[in-house]
Amino acid sequence: MAELSADETALLAAAREVAARAYAPYSGFHVGAAIRAEDGRVFTAANVENASYGLSLCAETNAAMAAAVAGVRRLTHVAVVGYRAATPTAPALATPCGRCRQILNEFAGPEARVIIGDADGSSVLALTLGELLPHAFGPRQLEP
Ligand code: THU
Repeated sequence: MAELSADETALLAAAREVAARAYAPYSGFHVGAAIRAEDGRVFTAANVENASYGLSLCAETNAAMAAAVAGVRRLTHVAVVGYRAATPTAPALATPCGRCRQILNEFAGPEARVIIGDADGSSVLALTLGELLPHAFGPRQLEP
């Protein structure tokens, strides 16, 4: 089990709480994400699926968009909790998908902490965004 600070433990709890409000009738997989901005504000969101399956949006993306429109330009932590609604206690650490890693990278450096937990708190993985998305393409490459 990864060592977490009190803030990180609270962020993971927020991700777990919002995962319960996922709209995931097709996959049955609930994901909650909680983002902590540099200024300490926290933004949470869950995955929202669509009958046109490919239009479904991930929890991390929804949380990043909520933070972005609230004015956040730098985030320091992301917590993610995912589980099958039918078997919430089965081990299923939901590491962010590739698209979400890139979206998070827009507003985070490689040192940003990504904390991934399961539904019942028995397993936690703490990584950095740089570990999840090495050699990322980001805003820096577009600088003049
Ligand atoms: N999902 C997320 O919300 N985040 C991820 O990083 C991976 C997958 C969602 C998308 C879909 O609603 C469900 O999990 C199953 O793929």
